[in-house]
Amino acid sequence: MHFIVTLLSVVLLSQFSRAQFSTESDQHLIESFGPDFLWGTSCSAYQIEGAWNEGGKSPSVWDEFTHRGGKIYQDQHGDTAVDFYHRYKEDIRLHKELNFKVFRFSIAWSRILPNGTGEINQEGINFYHKVIDECLAQGIEPWITLYHWDIPQVLEDQGGWTNRAVVEWFTEYTRVCARAYGSKVKNWMVFNEPAAFTSLGYLVGYHAPGKRGISKFMRATHHTCLAMAESGRMIRKTVPDARIGTNFSCSYVESFDGLKKHDKAVKRMDAMLNRLFIEPSLGMGYPMADFPGLKRIEKYMLPGDAEKLKFHFDFIGLQNYFRVVVKRSLIPLVWGNQVKAEKRGVPVNEMGFEIYPEGIYQVLKQFDAYPGVDHLIITENGVCVKDEVERGAVHDQSRIDFFRAYLFQVLKAKSEGVPVEGYFVWTLTDNFEWSEGYRPRFGLIHVDYATQKRTIKDSGYWFQELLQK
Ligand code: BGC
Repeated sequence: MHFIVTLLSVVLLSQFSRAQFSTESDQHLIESFGPDFLWGTSCSAYQIEGAWNEGGKSPSVWDEFTHRGGKIYQDQHGDTAVDFYHRYKEDIRLHKELNFKVFRFSIAWSRILPNGTGEINQEGINFYHKVIDECLAQGIEPWITLYHWDIPQVLEDQGGWTNRAVVEWFTEYTRVCARAYGSKVKNWMVFNEPAAFTSLGYLVGYHAPGKRGISKFMRATHHTCLAMAESGRMIRKTVPDARIGTNFSCSYVESFDGLKKHDKAVKRMDAMLNRLFIEPSLGMGYPMADFPGLKRIEKYMLPGDAEKLKFHFDFIGLQNYFRVVVKRSLIPLVWGNQVKAEKRGVPVNEMGFEIYPEGIYQVLKQFDAYPGVDHLIITENGVCVKDEVERGAVHDQSRIDFFRAYLFQVLKAKSEGVPVEGYFVWTLTDNFEWSEGYRPRFGLIHVDYATQKRTIKDSGYWFQELLQK
């Protein structure tokens, strides 16, 4: 009897002390998206895999850039990252535990084709087969992004995205991946945020490969747009039943103080941030009317290119992190027109990105307005927070508040008829945040980088509760 009472009280107490992370209205919010809505997480090869020189992989631009020194916060690098290469089973199991159904990951080009083109590295092919098979065994749908910023260094040595031959290199890489995984993977995304890797990598040199200059940027942009369409065609040919998308960074652009006099600057920024990569694929050409500086791109266009730029994507992935506010200036700069969040005294995350939930609603409406855009998916949205593990838990209430507020806006757009089909959190585990190193933490799961121990944060439990069926 005494034993039963003790047992009962232990059970009751544990029930009692089990934190409840979500509320009834959260439940209602999530249910309102409907049973077919896709809930997933997103990640990228360089940010998580580690094993930078294992399994026949050659260095990518990010290996070279981080090893160069002086480029990254505390000279950190992705040599080990969160060791996904060896711990993928554990991480996919955690993904399942949190009840997400889609796992969006990227393939490291230099694992598949260490010379960039030509000889295929079977060990690299096998690694992603293992990842895909593990997802499928766990009832998770694997979604592939072909390129998340890590071109093989051997190709960068020949000019990388500034060399027109990259269109062929990338199409060949696409064919190899589509042939290898096409029977198992039906959702494909060509690029992750082309505006980010072309501008940060080839215009301002803040990201790999650290190149600078307007002409490099113009060339990289045009070749990226051509490669995006060619790659789409190659997937279509190789995997006829694939759903093909590509992912764009997007930010709602507003005029400072709502003043009309800044409208030109708003249009210029919008063209650069939101329109530059999608409009050529829709057959609209580059948005030169609102951003005359883009005329320089014509120098790199060959006869017939305008046609080649077109490709009809089945869906467009939108990735939203902040709003941008601009004002006019005497010199029509792009970035120089920005009124930074810190100056405006608005809420920001650990990286200084403004937290502005309405922005995600605005960009959904903006992209939905394009004829030719049929389906939208939020393929990334998330926030970095100063997380700390306290007695085995991470109480990241502000991240929960962030997701609640953003999801409310996504739902608002959906209920107004915007065909938004899914929402993928950036990201499952904390990981390597490019030039910022490991300092910003975006994960639903905390990683202790010294031990690689994973700890589910309260925000992870929040999704776990809300997504359980
Ligand atoms: C990128 C991710 C990055 C995230 C947070 C996105 O632009 O796709 O690789 O980690 O933003 O900064």
